[in-house]
Formats: sequence, structure tokens, C-alpha cells
Amino acid sequence: MCGIIGYIGDKQAAPILLDGLEKLEYRGYDSAGLSLLDDGKINTIKTKGKILNLRRRVDLDYSGDSCIGIGHTRWATHGKPSDINSHPHSSFDGKFSVVHNGIIENFVTLRQDLKNEGIRFRSETDTEVVAQLLAKHYNGDIKQTIMKVLNIIEGAYSLGILCADYPDEIWAVRNASPLIIGLGEGENFLASDITAVLKHTKEIYQLNDGEFCCLKKNSVQVFAPDGTPIEKEKVTVDWNVEAAEKGGYKHFMLKEIMEEPDAIAKTISPRLTDDNEIVLDDFSLTKEKLENIKKIYILACGSAWHVGMVGKYVIEELTRIPVECDLASEFRYRNPVVDENTLAIVISQSGETADTLAALREAKSRGAKVLSIVNVVGSTIANESDDVIYTWAGPEIAVATTKAYSTQLTIVYLFALYAAKLMGKIDKKEYDEIIAAIRKLPEQVAEVLKMEQDIKTIASRYVYLEHAYFIGRNLDYAVSLEASLKLKEISYIHSEAYAAGELKHGTISLIEDDTFVCALCCQERLFDKTMNSIKEVAARGAETLAVITENCPNPGEECDHIITIPSTHPLIMPSLEVIPLQLLSYYIALSRKCDIHKPRNLAKSVTVE
Ligand code: AGP
Repeated sequence: MCGIIGYIGDKQAAPILLDGLEKLEYRGYDSAGLSLLDDGKINTIKTKGKILNLRRRVDLDYSGDSCIGIGHTRWATHGKPSDINSHPHSSFDGKFSVVHNGIIENFVTLRQDLKNEGIRFRSETDTEVVAQLLAKHYNGDIKQTIMKVLNIIEGAYSLGILCADYPDEIWAVRNASPLIIGLGEGENFLASDITAVLKHTKEIYQLNDGEFCCLKKNSVQVFAPDGTPIEKEKVTVDWNVEAAEKGGYKHFMLKEIMEEPDAIAKTISPRLTDDNEIVLDDFSLTKEKLENIKKIYILACGSAWHVGMVGKYVIEELTRIPVECDLASEFRYRNPVVDENTLAIVISQSGETADTLAALREAKSRGAKVLSIVNVVGSTIANESDDVIYTWAGPEIAVATTKAYSTQLTIVYLFALYAAKLMGKIDKKEYDEIIAAIRKLPEQVAEVLKMEQDIKTIASRYVYLEHAYFIGRNLDYAVSLEASLKLKEISYIHSEAYAAGELKHGTISLIEDDTFVCALCCQERLFDKTMNSIKEVAARGAETLAVITENCPNPGEECDHIITIPSTHPLIMPSLEVIPLQLLSYYIALSRKCDIHKPRNLAKSVTVE
């Protein structure tokens, strides 16, 4: 939540910062601002609303040509979105300007203490205490001052700091909130993530918690929390600039849906040899270690948790190890039964989700081995895991995840098969069948995507929906969870997912004339069972849409609409059935004129609790 950026070099900073903020806008978009250092004076321009508003304000109010500055795009936590609460925040003497992503947990006490000393606060934010503390403790030595303030503040923060006395330096701090340093030729950057600086450099430093650094135009010096200089290793990111651009699509979400065949192919092909072996690089889970695992916890949030729900069925089916799929935000605050015979599988696109990271640490502290499935290379979750399997989905910008979800699914299949084979739990015939199905996925997903226009037509019927129910059994239920979230998060339609068999235990009382029920009937052996549920809701007036496979019998008049997709191995079906449902959500939201790129109240990366 919130995106921060900084630039120092020979070019004009404002356009670079604005451009970078646009790339970070998915992290928060209720207000934005810049601070630029001109002739020893900090100019701050900030405003409520999107980056476009800030661009206009910069055009009107700023005539300088500063080559050093910091910027911020906000997802409000402390204080409503307003011009005053927008970042950057300045100190009482105008010497310091600060951008912040995270939460300063002890800000209430700190703020009160500073107020008691006569310091006047302008905003309601937690961030302003950092700027005021810097000014209060400033002794002419910026490094010492920053270290002093870092010892006072508590919580999660990545910070960008400008000091008027240091016109050739930006200082950056990372503690439990993402931050990368982009390394250019005669210019350097700080940013919440790589997409903001990809246009300028692919070389980065990943800072660890507690580390801070000084950026000059020709150098970056990183320090350990105790102030000792440290040598960092450069990481080269292989994402290309186009991957982070809309490339002619109206929304990143549609672009990313269309990229799914390619993303799946990139994720699976390097891991499959010609003779059907699965290769997982640097993987420490040997046959012996896997055989000692008595329980698997899958820990994740949101859509990544929905992947975990698929994982529960698939991993249990293939390996016969019991799997519990837990919401990271719940797991972290209960007393889970975890020991050294537990494997925690942590799933996260960003690798920075605060609850997921906390759950990982909780599992690890109780002795579990951690395997993470992550998209962002070098992210905190990846760094803290014993093993990582990356989803090679490329940058995912849309708040509503699509290609990351799909690539996470494929890694779950590969892991389950790999473990099952190593443990001797699967016969060669079934193993080869599933591998063949996985190999065919990119082509089959592309085939489903050809139904885009039909799905758009179906979506046009549901523009005025108020409520939607997604039902299914077994893996179809796991996919229903994702279909329902996809619809609600971008179209604001109230939507729920139910295991089809659960409907008559209460929820069926909500079904009346024209209630929309989408039934997922892609587990062919359970087709008749789910059809019974369709009949039950249809008899009570529901408008029904069924997603079936080409092998299912035609449900005839029982359903108002039918989407027929290709068939594959039942364990792999989620990868095909989710595609029309992603498109359906997209087109329903589009016809409702919702802001698909910036769904209200949401941000892509949830780095606060
Ligand atoms: C889904 O469309 C959401 N954007 C959200 O549920 C997301 O999957 C969740 O916040 C987890 O994010 P992560 O994968 O980056 O950890």
C-alpha cells in the first residue's frame, strides 16, 4: 500500500518521478505528491486524487528544474485522503521532507510528546512524526540523525528522505515494507518496486529489514542498522519495459488475462524435461525430507489463498499428505499445530503481503520448513523461505490478479506431482497423463480466450446484478471462491461462493426470482450432483449460468446460459474454468463503468496488516 519513489541524477526529476508514480499507482491512488530540491530549498507539491491531478499541479505550480526529488502515491491508513494528508510530509523547519510506505505503530505517543514540546502538526498522518523527529534530532549529521530516529520509531516502513542541507543526497530506509534501489549510469533511484524504474535500469539492490542507504548521483552506500557500511550484491531483473505497459489494451487486467497462455508456458516449460521429469532448481526437499512431512499448511491471502484451496485438493490427492489451507491473517494469531515435520507452502504474487509474511515467520519459528511460490524475484517472502519456486508471470499490475493466479496453479500441480513421484505415490501412467495435460495448458487456455466475444455478450445480461452466487463441488468449489472474489472486487456486486452441497443448509433461502447463480460443473464425475443444485435454485426462480466441459451432457433448459470449455485431467481443470470467469468479471465491471484499473478502496500490494 502506497508507492514511493526517488530520483537523483542529471535529468529533471519531476517527469521521472511522475512517470514512476504512474507505474506505482496500483499500490494506492487516493492522493499523490512530490518534493524537489532546488537551490537548497525543498519544494513540495501534493494533491488529493490520482497522479493525473498531481501532473496538472506540477505543470501549474512548479517551474524549477531540480534533478533530485522524492514522490509518493497514497492508500490512506491514517487520515482521510486530502491535500494536507498527502505525502511528502515536511518538518516544522522545512529542512526535511519524507515519503513513507507502511505504518508507524507508536506514532500516537510520539506525536503527543512532540506536540507537548510545542511542535505543530499539519496532517493527521503517522508519517509526519518522522519528519518532525528528524528535524528535532538534527545535529548537522544526517546519517546520525536518521539512525537516532530509526531507534525511536516502531512499525513497518520504507522511507525516502530529503534534507535541504544535503542537496546531493537522498536517504532511504527499509523496515518490513518493500523498497528497492535502482542503479543507473550517473543516476540512481529508490522505489517500492522495480516496475517504477524498469524504464531506466534493470539493476537493483534489495535492501533487508533495518538497512538504510544514501543515494548520490554516482554512488549508493548501504548501511547495516548499526551504521556499518555494507557491500550489496546487484540483482539483474529480466522483466522488460513493455511487460509493465498496457500495450494497446484498455486495462492491464485484460492485457494480463490475454497474457495467460504465455505466462503459463514460461512457468512450466523450463521445469519440464523431454522425458517428463520435473526440474525444480535449488530445491532442498529430498525424498527423505518429503517422507517426513506429516502435514502441509498452505498460507496465503485473497486469490493466492484460493490457489491454496485448489492446492489442498491436488496435493492431498497426489501425495496423501494432509493439507490445511489457512488464511495467513488467521494463522498468525492462532496457536497452530506446527513442528519440524510440517511444511508451510506460502503463496504470494508480490512476495510482500504483510499477513502472509507474518504467517511465514510464525510457521518458521515453530520449526516448519517453508516453500514459497512467489512472482517477484528477491521479495521478502522469497528471501525468507527455505525453498522458492518462482512463477514466471512477469509484472502483474492490475489490482485484480489473473495471470499470477494461473501461474501459481501450475506451480501447485508441478510441486504435487514432483513430491508424489519422489515419494512413490503415483504410477507412471497417471503421472505422464497429468504432465501431458499440463503441457497442453497454454494451448487450451488460448482456446478458451477465443470465447471472449461470447462471454462479453453473456456479461451484458448481468450489468444490473446486485447479488451473485458461485457454486461448485470439490475443485469447482475452489475455483468458485476465486470467481466470486474477481467479480466483487472490480464490479462491486455482492457475491459469494458456496460449496454446492451447502446451499440447502441455509443460503438457498436467499434465492428468489432472477437471483444470479453461476454453477461450475467442470469436475465431470460430479456433474450430476451440481446439476441437482442448479435444478434446486432454478426451481426457486434463479437465473443460472453453468460452466461445463465439452464432455458434459447438455444441461438443456435447466440453465439460462452455458459456457462450454475444453476438457483436461480433472486436477488441472481449474486452470481452464477460471479463464471465462475472469473475462466475465472484467466485462461485467466494464459495462458497469467501474474503474477496473483502480477498484475502490483496494491496492495491489497489501503491505500493512
Ligand atoms: C486478488 O485479485 C487480489 N488482488 C488479492 O486478493 C491478492 O491476491 C492478495 O492481496 C494477495 O496478494 P499477494 O499474492 O501479492 O500476496
